[in-house]
Amino acid sequence: MFHSNTSCVTWILCVFCVPLAVCASFFPKDSFFIDCGGSKELKLDDGRVFESDSGNQHVGLSPDSHIVVSETRMGNSNDSTLCSSARVFKETSTYTINTKQIGRHWLRLHFHPVQNPHYHLKSAVFSVAANGITLLHWFSSSSNLGTKSCLFKEYVIQVDGSSSEKLVLTFSPLNGSIAFINGIEVISTPDGQFPSSAVPFPLRAAVEIPTHVAFETAYRINMGGPLLTSKDDPQWRIWETDQSFLVNVASAKNVTVDPASIKYLDGVSREIAPNLVYSTAQEMANANVINQRFNISWAFEVEPMFTYFIRMHFCDIVSITTGTLFFNVYVNNQSALDSFDISSKTMELSAAYFVDFIANTSASLNRILVQVGPSNLRNFPPNAILNGLEIMKMSNPSDSLVKNLRPDYIDSRIPKRKNWILLAITSSVSLAVLVLIFAVLYLYLHHPKKPRHETAHLGNSDSKVSVGSFASSTAHSLSLGRVLAFSEIREATKNFDQRLVLGVGGFGKVYKGVLENGVVVAVKRANPQSQQGCTEFRTEIEMLSKLRHRHLVSLIGYCEEFDEMILVYEFMAGGPLRKHLYGSDLPQLTWKQRLQVCIGAAKGLHYLHTGAAESIIHRDVKTTNILLDENLTAKVADFGLSKLGPTLDQTHVSTAVKGSFGYLDPEYYRRQQLTEKSDVYSFGVVMMEVLCARPAVNPALPREQINIAEWAMDLQKRGQLEKIIDPHLVGSVNLDSLRKFGETAEKCLAEHGADRPTMGDVLWNLEYALQLQEASMQMVSNENSANYIPDIPEWVNQIEPAEGDAADAISYKDSDTTTSSGVFSQLMDPKGR
Ligand SMILES: *[C@@H]1O[C@H](CO)[C@@H](O)[C@H](O)[C@H]1NC(C)=O
Ligand SMILES: *[C@@H]1O[C@H](CO)[C@@H](O)[C@H](O)[C@H]1NC(C)=O
Ligand SMILES: *[C@@H]1O[C@H](CO)[C@@H](O)[C@H](O)[C@H]1NC(C)=O
Ligand SMILES: *[C@@H]1O[C@H](CO)[C@@H](O)[C@H](O)[C@H]1NC(C)=O
Ligand SMILES: *[C@@H]1O[C@H](CO)[C@@H](O)[C@H](O)[C@H]1NC(C)=O
Ligand SMILES: *[C@@H]1O[C@H](CO)[C@@H](O)[C@H](O)[C@H]1NC(C)=O
Repeated sequence: MFHSNTSCVTWILCVFCVPLAVCASFFPKDSFFIDCGGSKELKLDDGRVFESDSGNQHVGLSPDSHIVVSETRMGNSNDSTLCSSARVFKETSTYTINTKQIGRHWLRLHFHPVQNPHYHLKSAVFSVAANGITLLHWFSSSSNLGTKSCLFKEYVIQVDGSSSEKLVLTFSPLNGSIAFINGIEVISTPDGQFPSSAVPFPLRAAVEIPTHVAFETAYRINMGGPLLTSKDDPQWRIWETDQSFLVNVASAKNVTVDPASIKYLDGVSREIAPNLVYSTAQEMANANVINQRFNISWAFEVEPMFTYFIRMHFCDIVSITTGTLFFNVYVNNQSALDSFDISSKTMELSAAYFVDFIANTSASLNRILVQVGPSNLRNFPPNAILNGLEIMKMSNPSDSLVKNLRPDYIDSRIPKRKNWILLAITSSVSLAVLVLIFAVLYLYLHHPKKPRHETAHLGNSDSKVSVGSFASSTAHSLSLGRVLAFSEIREATKNFDQRLVLGVGGFGKVYKGVLENGVVVAVKRANPQSQQGCTEFRTEIEMLSKLRHRHLVSLIGYCEEFDEMILVYEFMAGGPLRKHLYGSDLPQLTWKQRLQVCIGAAKGLHYLHTGAAESIIHRDVKTTNILLDENLTAKVADFGLSKLGPTLDQTHVSTAVKGSFGYLDPEYYRRQQLTEKSDVYSFGVVMMEVLCARPAVNPALPREQINIAEWAMDLQKRGQLEKIIDPHLVGSVNLDSLRKFGETAEKCLAEHGADRPTMGDVLWNLEYALQLQEASMQMVSNENSANYIPDIPEWVNQIEPAEGDAADAISYKDSDTTTSSGVFSQLMDPKGR
């Protein structure tokens, strides 16, 4: 009774909360809307209320010698806009805005040269700085206005302790000229609006974005959609249309869905971009050809010699199911995202997602080219989309957002007034300071960066999204297999420090290392005596150079100097899956996590079999070759035994039998004919291992239990599979989900390859099992546990890890392969199976 009362209260609360949460726009801690020189409150229809700057308790103005001018032009009596009055300064003056919060703030400036009898504002030339950042220098509104009557500039400025938690805005008129301003907005940005680091071009490890860096909005575009005004955006931002930036308008087709269908998942808040941005996109237009291959390109004029922050917004509003839209993204003709699958990040359609990059513009390059085009994967309809794009200029090492800071300009003039001398002195001092800052920055940039995974945890969830997405995208693009110098690798591993050894395998030792650019890697160094290693080494480079997928471990580079054979992979912090199942004291994976790991590995294998230009058979699928990253995302590793699959006119590949004992497809072993279905069999063994948390082969067990495939199949066929599941899972596994899983594993372990499902089918079934589990987890509160496995299974023998498992638990590539000859002699023994 008590319980139902509580839930009733919760329910009522929710009813009241939900509409609030849905309608609520963003409530910034700081929001100052200042109508400079205005006389009364100005309410705009987007909800903003601009207050006059005189007598405003939050705003300080100094010195007092400023003048207010108002529009006096006849016929324009409309004073309900910001542009009707301005404050004019004849000498350097400051606005001081006392913010409540430290951190980044939007700073928006409105300029309109108001016509008035006293001052000719159109000829005003002045500079504007905010908290030490030069925003405008010798700026003339008339040369920037063009045909518009009101000029609008948007910046992002850091407010912190060093600026005494104030935003100080300085207006400096030039040389007898005047300065003016019509409106100022200062709004704190939501947490996570700006990341602490982003991936640069050409792709390298993420670079940090120091908090003092200021931004100026260059472009904010709503692809395929209408102009969005301050009314449409919770942060009162403006999103332009993209038509005028399209290089070839005919290459793109706009798509629109109901904005209400857009979902925001963890890590992407509504403030990042409104659903009106995500609900429209440009996709590839239909060129009426069989295999259309072209890019949609947008070109944006930018200022050379600056660094730009680029945020791309994606939302799959064009696909019918997940996992069918793969596309490439390029920035300035260089790959930014390769075979990008939005749904692999969001796990569902119509979910908002964004990725951040940083691009330099060189002296000769005054544009940023953004392109999206189809991926090179077979079997997927060619398409590519982009929903939104933001390009922001970043302040340079001299804390400026403008280039022509010619200090010589001042020096060459004989100062006429005292404050000019002062200014000249200040500028030479600041020049010295700038040189110093630059030197410090130089040192900083050339200093080895902290390992990526450490910085990745610093930010809040939003910045983690961008950092995380970087992690996979860089790794992908680097997976082309860069040649690394031996010296570089020696340095990365501290001269192959024994304390950095992650594991030992037949091939040699695996070390943890940190490359010069800060990327944490796993370095596999071949044992020089290993002849077998040499072929495996080649195969691995060859295979991995062709493959890029979120669920395949990426090859970052390799080295062949001085008879060394070294492979460098992305580091997988979680280590092998086996370690998470048994033989270590890592926390137990839940059933849902186990399903997700299986789904990840199945996706990797499915991609191997069908995604690349030629089908590839892994040949060594096992729990030690499925590695987990720090987020428990599974990736398939170790392609040393992989083979290209049968071509269209072949049914199989004839080859010597290789693989690992306990995982080997019996048909392949008998007939020495290899097909993709051999991997399916091995995957079936992995599934059983995941379910029962015991080794594939454990000679210490009673005879009928030694081989997991045989034993689990036996129980599955009798409908008693739940009796042998990992005791840790008891009570939390939904029975239907378990049955689906068991049936799928059973099919994988079918005697004949032809009877086994494809990896695509396995994937589908696993996803279904996950859905069943998730659905039951949602219902668990108001249902009795009838659908759960009621008690401890009969079989609760504590399993001792089989021999070699202790090593496996830390090994990157396990030692099974080394013992393959032993393995096969055991297999030959009729008693073996
Ligand atoms: C004044 O400006 C507002 C907003 O731009 C506009 O909606 C209104 O019609 C204008 N009124 C007059 C009298 O021009
Ligand atoms: C600066 O002052 C000189 C002399 O008074 C004048 O000729 C020049 O036009 C001024 N420059 C600007 C940009 O106003
Ligand atoms: C941009 O160029 C500068 C100077 O060449 C360099 O130090 C910096 O690392 C570059 N930044 C990016 C993001 O490439
Ligand atoms: C979308 O495309 C149609 C047809 O080309 C065009 O008429 C419409 O204006 C476009 N909409 C937007 C928002 O660009
Ligand atoms: C990209 O390539 C095109 C064609 O090769 C070239 O015209 C353009 O200048 C390149 N753009 C950039 C940003 O490198
Ligand atoms: C798309 O653009 C990139 C970079 O400019 C280029 O390498 C690629 O070949 C283009 N793709 C197609 C299909 O034209």
